[in-house]
Order: sequence, then structure tokens, then C-alpha cells
Amino acid sequence: MNSADDARLLAAARAARANAYAPYSKFSVGAALLCEDGTVVTGVNVENASYGMTMCAERTAVFTAVASGKTRFAAIAVAGPPGVTTPPCGACRQVLAEFGRDLRLSYATADGTVTTTVGDLLPATFVLP
Ligand code: THU
Repeated sequence: MNSADDARLLAAARAARANAYAPYSKFSVGAALLCEDGTVVTGVNVENASYGMTMCAERTAVFTAVASGKTRFAAIAVAGPPGVTTPPCGACRQVLAEFGRDLRLSYATADGTVTTTVGDLLPATFVLP
């Protein structure tokens, strides 16, 4: 993975935003998950009239990938509205960490892109003893 790969993945996350279902917040988020087999699985936020039922884009992507038998990931990118810094929420960090603290993670910011790892974003991941 290099910064050109990160940029391509972020472009896929941005494109996915078109399918977000966010009638309440109007805050569309897209995620693109690069699986180790080279496929890219996208996800979007899916909101609900019962607000707490909302699912984030990152978890939609992870759960979709797992449902098709993919559990080994190389990188994920997350994009919110243009110009808005959109790092993954705490719940998504914990879910991503399940599949590897070393997972490379890029997110759009107000003035560019940050590339880090899930472990850096969630230093004290919960694990079952
Ligand atoms: N959202 C995501 O999809 N991912 C995140 O990491 C943070 C927030 C969504 C949830 C909700 O639909 C909207 O953004 C506003 O919170």
C-alpha cells in the first residue's frame, strides 16, 4: 500500500456516499474496505427513524465483507461530506480492531487525508481474556 493506493480507496469511499441512507442527519458517509484478496467492499451509513438503530458506513462495509467470507483486510478508507473531517467513531474502531489493529486506515479531513492504523486510533482495544 502506498499513498496512491490510499487515494484510490478514498475515491471509492467518496463514490459510495451516493448510496448512503441519511435522511435524518443528511450526513452521508462512505467506506471502502480493501480485502486481502484484492476486492473492495463498500459500505454506507444506514439511518433509521429510531435513531439508535443507525449503522455507520464502516461497520456496513465490514459486515458485508464478512458475510461474503472475507475476514482479512489490507486497508479501509472513510469519507464524509466534502471538506468535513470524518474519522471513524469509537464503535467502528472497536469493530475494525477485531480484524487487526494494524489495519491501515485513511480518512478525509478538511484539508486532505490522514492515514493511520486502527491500533493508533484505538490504543486500548477491548479483547476477551
Ligand atoms: N457515521 C458513520 O457512518 N461513520 C462514522 O464513523 C461516524 C458517523 C454516520 C452515522 C450517522 O448516520 C451520521 O454519520 C451522523 O452521525
